[in-house]
Amino acid sequence: MKTNIRSQLDQTLDDITLPELGEAYTGKVRNVYYQDDKIIMITTDRVSAFDHVLGTIPFKGQVLTQLARFWFDKTSEVVPNHVIDYPDPQVLVARKAEMLPVEVIVRAYITGSLWREYENGIRDQYGFVLPDGLQKDQRLPEPIITPSTKAEYGDHDLPISREEIIRRNLVLPDVYNLAEIYARKLFSIGQCWAARQGLILVDTKYEFGMSGGQLIVVDEIHTPDSSRYWVADEYEARFAANTDQRMLDKENLRQWLLAKNFSGQGTPPELTAEIRIALAEHYLTLYNRLTGSVFTPQTGPVKDRIINNLRDAGLLK
Ligand SMILES: Nc1ncnc2c1ncn2[C@@H]1O[C@H](COP(=O)(O)OP(=O)(O)O)[C@@H](O)[C@H]1O
Ligand SMILES: [Mg+2]
Repeated sequence: MKTNIRSQLDQTLDDITLPELGEAYTGKVRNVYYQDDKIIMITTDRVSAFDHVLGTIPFKGQVLTQLARFWFDKTSEVVPNHVIDYPDPQVLVARKAEMLPVEVIVRAYITGSLWREYENGIRDQYGFVLPDGLQKDQRLPEPIITPSTKAEYGDHDLPISREEIIRRNLVLPDVYNLAEIYARKLFSIGQCWAARQGLILVDTKYEFGMSGGQLIVVDEIHTPDSSRYWVADEYEARFAANTDQRMLDKENLRQWLLAKNFSGQGTPPELTAEIRIALAEHYLTLYNRLTGSVFTPQTGPVKDRIINNLRDAGLLK
């Protein structure tokens, strides 16, 4: 596998410009094209950390697209989603939705930004009060929802409560209630499945939108870019010892950057071949653990392959 990853290092997808596909939006990780009633979402191999795009990781776009697909397939009977078709292993054609201006974040543990807020004494910004005495990474009695407003480009997302969402008319009450019901259903399916595979789905972010009068879940679900996963059989010991949990995602990259004295300010260091390979292995391991099947990497130049597949699908001339 290692040789496979190494030979992919200079064939990854960094960026792709296809104006013929429609109006373009370039996110940190995805290149999106908007058509009348569809979007074409190309998940590149870009990786970001500390709000900077740092380079590419072999097979990352394919892993992310296929993991989202795995979860969309598993949950489509329970929660309607935006999927139309996958013309390529890292391209999704989806129903264009009118996005809800809030993100619905579900958490089963107190960690990350919620822990940092809690540690600083902020305990009530989501419309309920967190009890005193919680420890970092502690499991919550039941999953909580900590919504945030989707910030304009360049701004940080802001915490908000469901009452405030409704009071400010950001979302109609019935629509927002249904989004929370959907989020809880998705999260519960995710938790159960992850547990079967020896993993913990710690927290995750959902985006919803309206399409044809229907509320649907959009974007990506339960991928390592939108969720945190921990290794289940190490949880208790690490929690008891007050050490960080073992994550199967970007943890290594953050550690590597910190060791090079980069934490978001200044110019990020250039990723070496070794760290790119190590990260690719992490993504592949997560894919295999989570799905219980073996990832089949598509080797070769990603951009050429995508263009060919989009042509075959009649999306490009
Ligand atoms: N079905 C959909 N309809 C319209 N917009 C969508 C849909 N699904 C996802 N999006 C949007 O597409 C973009 C995906 O690109 P991404 O790289 O995640 O960007 P960002 O850096 O803004 O998160 C996001 O802005 C997301 O909200
Ligand atoms: Mg996004």
